[in-house]
Amino acid sequence: MGLSPRSLPDFPWDSLAPYKARAAAHPDGLVDLSVGTPVDPTPAVIRDALAAAADAPGYPTTHGTAALREAVADWFARRRGAPGVDPMAVLPTVGSKELVATLPAYLGLGEGDVVVHPRAAYPTYDVGARLAGATPLAADDVDAWRGNPAVRLVWVNSPSNPTGAVADAAHLAEVVAAAREIGALVASDECYAELSWTGAPVPSILDPQVCGGSHEGVLAVYSLSKQSNLAGYRAAFVAGDPAVIAPLLEVRKHAGLIVPAPVQAAMVAALRDDAHVAEQKERYRARRAALLPAVQSAGFRVDRSEAGLYLWATRDEDCWLTLDYLAERGILAAPGAFYGEAARRHVRIALTASDSGVSAASSRLAKRE
Ligand SMILES: Cc1ncc(COP(=O)(O)O)c(C=O)c1O
Repeated sequence: MGLSPRSLPDFPWDSLAPYKARAAAHPDGLVDLSVGTPVDPTPAVIRDALAAAADAPGYPTTHGTAALREAVADWFARRRGAPGVDPMAVLPTVGSKELVATLPAYLGLGEGDVVVHPRAAYPTYDVGARLAGATPLAADDVDAWRGNPAVRLVWVNSPSNPTGAVADAAHLAEVVAAAREIGALVASDECYAELSWTGAPVPSILDPQVCGGSHEGVLAVYSLSKQSNLAGYRAAFVAGDPAVIAPLLEVRKHAGLIVPAPVQAAMVAALRDDAHVAEQKERYRARRAALLPAVQSAGFRVDRSEAGLYLWATRDEDCWLTLDYLAERGILAAPGAFYGEAARRHVRIALTASDSGVSAASSRLAKRE
């Protein structure tokens, strides 16, 4: 019997191994800026909540505790300019990645259905479409799919991974209006929303300026991995249209996709405490302030990068050549090729390294060795 996952690409990160080996041969060691995995400690307020909920002999509910769903609704009102989130229409997820990868299939999409995602994009939007047997379509311009009834799901991602671009309310409202015209769902992946560097607003899809005060046909997808150093907990949620959340909850109950009870308790603590998010943001701000001028002084142009955890940088050459240049200096970045054809001449440089790693990378780049 031949078992193979549906037409998935090779797992791209494996192709970085030779660059990593080269960078690791640098006499002062490797600085890995290729992945966006947080490196600072999980805040005590969250760890304490996890520990206090460690006695958990029974099954947790798939829908999450009422306390968690209310904390999410309060957080949307307080931090995301999105009042009126119905706690019944909130669903915790085991990190966002599984939701992104399974949403098309769990919505019943399949052959003949189109899933739109940004041109330079987190690869899991494409993977989720393929796992469902649907067709991914990379497009930033609404006109690429306006009026196309085959489009059933549209992913938006602001602030963007990898580019750090922020979509304004007018653009998001245009996406929502075009999707509603054809009865497609808009899923908005917003996990870098707290990490804006320009002071410009980062509107949520659930902001009344975007969705017109109705959550019909829209979902906000959010993860605590980045803002709360919780990637290891797998702590995220989705909220929005009650008519979409209800069947999604049903299928996730059948599939056993349950956030562990201690993690649910930890999420409540994380969502109620804004101080640790502000503190973590300042750490990233300092790393960005060190790295950005160093990258520019080495002859890179940094595009967008208005928010989020990455510098979207180019030397106007193929990304693999840039990766070579960086590896010679003991630095590993992510090639734009991982994020789509549109991104082949950029590299993504993450701010998620220790202060000493960022400082080493900055001085190696500034020296123009
Ligand atoms: C745009 C985007 N969405 C989703 C995720 C997944 O986050 P997690 O699965 O840790 O919640 C990431 C992580 O890097 C991301 O960059």
